[in-house]
Amino acid sequence: MSETTQAVTYANYLKLEELLSLQQPRSSGPEHDEMLFIVIHQVYELWFKQLLHELDRVKALLEQDESHRAQHTLKRILTILKVMVAQLDILETMTPLEFLSFRARLEAASGFQSDQFRQIEFVLGLKSESAINRFPEGGRARAALERRYRESTLWDAFLQYLGREGYPAAAVPQTLIDIYRNDPKNAELCERLVDLDEGIQEWRYRHVKMVERTIGARPGTGGSAGAAYLRETVGRPIFPDLWAIRSQL
Ligand code: HEM
Repeated sequence: MSETTQAVTYANYLKLEELLSLQQPRSSGPEHDEMLFIVIHQVYELWFKQLLHELDRVKALLEQDESHRAQHTLKRILTILKVMVAQLDILETMTPLEFLSFRARLEAASGFQSDQFRQIEFVLGLKSESAINRFPEGGRARAALERRYRESTLWDAFLQYLGREGYPAAAVPQTLIDIYRNDPKNAELCERLVDLDEGIQEWRYRHVKMVERTIGARPGTGGSAGAAYLRETVGRPIFPDLWAIRSQL
């Protein structure tokens, strides 16, 4: 049978041969825990891919004024985020010494270089030109980040949607206060965005705690100060307007 007429199977649909050949430890032995480290990171990259897919969907649904369906997709995103946060527990079963047994083999590699993580930040409005410039010109990652840098963010799509719902675009804080007081449908949408914001902050917090317990105050393989750098990113809101109005409600 030729490739094109081959019956669909579990293995060929999921490209299992390729998928299962992608976990290649660098340590000699190899060190037992390096497999977990690779699998966890690969799983995260897959979740990042799915998050981007769903975030693009939320934006498109808001652009079509489909707020109910946008909320439904946001709930899926939040569920994925919870799984992503919970997965850090697995890596925390790796002791500092177990990690140090292969850490040197990572050289300068770090989650800091995850372009999909930066893409998520960009869609959410945390855009940075210097983040783009870290990726080689002409590559997939650079092209994806350049595109997302130009594209509108989820917050832009949300404000434009509110504009079509009859809210003035300029007075954001007052608009949000009005929504919370008088418009349950859109207040619900605001709450899901706060959930999303809190979910990302939760991941950052849990990641930095994991980093502190695994490498202490050592610098990161990616060249930053390590936990000290990461602590600065924790608690920084994605949608500051949605937090600022809370004391006025
Ligand atoms: C033993 C486990 C881990 C350690 C010790 C660790 C350590 C670090 C450190 C020190 C940084 C700061 C950048 C640097 O200088 O390298 C960093 C950044 C980062 N790590 Fe991890 N990490 C671990 C696991 C993970 C996992 C499982 C993920 C999931 C993809 C991840 C994703 C990231 C991301 C996205 C950043 C960039 C954060 C930002 O710039 O805001 N890390 N990590």
